[in-house]
Amino acid sequence: MASTEPPPVIRPLTTADLDAAVQLSASAHWNQNRSDWSTMLRLGQGWGIDAADDAGHAALAASVIVLPYGAHFAWTSMVLVLPAFRRRGYAQRLLRHALAHLGSQGRAAILDATPAGHAVYVQEGFADTWGFARYRREAGAALPAPPAPPEGLTTRLLADEDWPAIDALDAPAFGASRLPLMRALAQRWPQAARVAEVGGRLRGYMLGRDGREAVQFGPLLADDDAVAAALLNDGLRIATGPLYVDLLDRRRALLSRLEAAGFAFQRPFTRMVHGTAKAPGDATNIVLAAGPELG
Ligand SMILES: CC(C)(COP(=O)(O)OP(=O)(O)OC[C@H]1O[C@@H](n2cnc3c(N)ncnc32)[C@H](O)[C@@H]1OP(=O)(O)O)[C@@H](O)C(=O)NCCC(=O)NCCS
Repeated sequence: MASTEPPPVIRPLTTADLDAAVQLSASAHWNQNRSDWSTMLRLGQGWGIDAADDAGHAALAASVIVLPYGAHFAWTSMVLVLPAFRRRGYAQRLLRHALAHLGSQGRAAILDATPAGHAVYVQEGFADTWGFARYRREAGAALPAPPAPPEGLTTRLLADEDWPAIDALDAPAFGASRLPLMRALAQRWPQAARVAEVGGRLRGYMLGRDGREAVQFGPLLADDDAVAAALLNDGLRIATGPLYVDLLDRRRALLSRLEAAGFAFQRPFTRMVHGTAKAPGDATNIVLAAGPELG
């Protein structure tokens, strides 16, 4: 940024910004639609920078969102800058604003970085933990030859009474309870919100949602690849169009089956934590992340 220019003004994002926010997502070929942005702004807080385009019209040019999960950490996401306004320090300024906000609350910042974002985050004191990757399927079949399921495994649509058991499986894995977010996601594509049980005990669950470019499945948690495959196959039967899944690197045992069902690698992500924070939770049972903007 030229030293003669005044520093850009950082302002809160509101629901009046939803159209411009979706444009920011579109500019980076990200999947968030109005529902995503509106949920993130309802459960969290966002800030943006306006900049004048060639015609002199001021419009939203950059964004950041923080999404608190419990008392100890918050997702930091939607770090997006319109291509024409990159390398002016907007992302760095917004990120520092978000970090100062979280610091005042005593919350650690966690995020899932794209390779482009990684360069910004390392400079701001974030460190790598584990990784996952996005796979996309245009259309296709069920997973070929899924692993043999545990005896007595059944899957069904998620019911309201399932939330306490889902929370008990999810919170230790993710590192905090995220029921408000999960309830919102479950309403987006209810036919993909499913649970797996053996003898009445919850062994896994999956949620799905619509998106700007594709439906996304996730989070999906399961204590066993065969349970995960059963839930995924339920979803694949009803998803006829483009579909994203964000598969954790540690669950790559499922990858060959995903590829055989038509999924292709799209982009990698790195989960990063700020400062001395540790990666929250124990990710052993996480198969599909909710998505880099949500954790
Ligand atoms: C990644 C992104 C947010 C960076 O926004 P930006 O406003 O251009 O970044 P800044 O100007 O604040 O960059 C700060 C520093 O980070 C580093 N950096 C930023 N973009 C970089 C890139 N593409 N390659 C290498 N380093 C980069 C540079 O050191 C830069 O400082 P410098 O310009 O003085 O060298 C922007 O490119 C973008 O929107 N990309 C698409 C969406 C995305 O991937 N977001 C990250 C989500 S995790």
